[in-house]
Amino acid sequence: MIETVTELSRLRAIVSGWKREGLRVGFVPTMGNLHAGHYSLVKLARQHADRVVSSVFVNPTQFGPNEDFTRYPRTPEADTSGLQDAGCDVLWLPTVESMYPFGVELAAKVHVPGVSAVLEGAHRPGHFDGVCTVVSRLFNQVQPDVAAFGRKDYQQLAVIQQMVTDLAFPIEIIGGEIVREADGLAMSSRNQYLDGAARPQAAHIRRTLLAMRDACLAGTARHQVEAEAEAQLREAGFQVDYAVVRLPDLGEPQDGQGGARVALVAARIGNTRLIDNIEF
Ligand code: PAF
Repeated sequence: MIETVTELSRLRAIVSGWKREGLRVGFVPTMGNLHAGHYSLVKLARQHADRVVSSVFVNPTQFGPNEDFTRYPRTPEADTSGLQDAGCDVLWLPTVESMYPFGVELAAKVHVPGVSAVLEGAHRPGHFDGVCTVVSRLFNQVQPDVAAFGRKDYQQLAVIQQMVTDLAFPIEIIGGEIVREADGLAMSSRNQYLDGAARPQAAHIRRTLLAMRDACLAGTARHQVEAEAEAQLREAGFQVDYAVVRLPDLGEPQDGQGGARVALVAARIGNTRLIDNIEF
């Protein structure tokens, strides 16, 4: 049976007991409203650890003033039973007060420069500070050996990896593959905001990413690939924040430079902002 824990002292007692037995502890941080993508991360963590903790915490510090913090979907019963079925041992449910004991305004913040500044960081100022601030706290609370993050949030994974290296957290970070709906739409808690025609339209992002990949592999210049992707998305009714091709570290590739790439898109349909990417 999964144990739901709301007191840090209880969480610490469980995890230190496991560690005394020599067990390896895996961790999957989430904001709840869980779907198959999250459960695949729990299963992945399970492959790398003997016990798995997952947290559900809708973190106020990573939402901008005009973003969806208050309406972010909260589904605690479904999350608990889904986590249990996926093989999670402990559900950690911190409160805002326990996460930020001095209040959100006075919270010590973690800022990872460079990789945080571009793409999502440019369009959502302060977002990655909020993510790093909460993830570093969660790491200190849970003290895992390994933590799993989804590759849909490609930049978040890169930022966390840099934070862990820079701050010497003794934690292995692993990335879980993107889980998709049948039409290719990447699973996301925000997909449920998509109503009527917006839902089938959303699958266009995946088709655009596949076209970006194919054009790059066929030798089309990066700026042309990006311009065409943006035009296609606008034509399909999206407001586009970015449609870009980057190096794996999110640096800008030179034309003619070979090697691994990632294409990333952030675009809105109505009030719903979606992100996705493809690595090639
Ligand atoms: O990816 C998420 O759901 C969140 O950004 C995370 C990592 C749980 C931090 O709040």
